[in-house]
Amino acid sequence: MSALSELYEEIARCQKCELARCRNRAVPGEGAEDADIMFIGEAPGWHEDQQGRPFVGPAGQFLDELLALIGLKRQQVYIANVIKCRPEANRDPLPQEILNCRQWLERQIELIHPRIIVTLGRYSMALFFPGKTISKVHGTAEKRDGTVYYAMYHPAAALHQQSLREVVKADMLKIPALLEEIDAVPAAKQGPEAKQLNMFEV
Ligand code: URA
Repeated sequence: MSALSELYEEIARCQKCELARCRNRAVPGEGAEDADIMFIGEAPGWHEDQQGRPFVGPAGQFLDELLALIGLKRQQVYIANVIKCRPEANRDPLPQEILNCRQWLERQIELIHPRIIVTLGRYSMALFFPGKTISKVHGTAEKRDGTVYYAMYHPAAALHQQSLREVVKADMLKIPALLEEIDAVPAAKQGPEAKQLNMFEV
């Protein structure tokens, strides 16, 4: 059994918070174990809770469309959430729930070791761009300790607010160039001094 599958089993057994008692299925995440790009959303919704898979409802269909824009299928990336169990009635995750789940996400990131972490929505953004606001930080990237962090609006936000659709698409379309830029930055320049990538300065 792979380390990732073992992690999924641990997540499925997790009883750290009330969410464990309401869930049908834990939703650890899925995708390529060697993915270059890891997308991190907020929390499972109804569909995800039923299937135990991330982003399989309407927001997931839009995420699939967004991935297709850059020639990718969901099997080629890794998709996870900040929270692994559905908050009842899709309420916002509580700070303690985010804290409880953080160890799972950290271990996932360690195992997948993606080149880019794409945060989807403000809860995911808050973990990796503390103190920033999504309206300012979306479409921008920062490099820290060898990993690039790139912020986007949540696909569900674009479903509720039509004006965000083109913004989300435009942000997704920047990802291939971002990957190219990572390849192009010489290793010597990849220290803390290259914290912010040129193309996407905050
Ligand atoms: N929204 C999320 O943030 N994650 C999912 O898995 C589904 C919807």
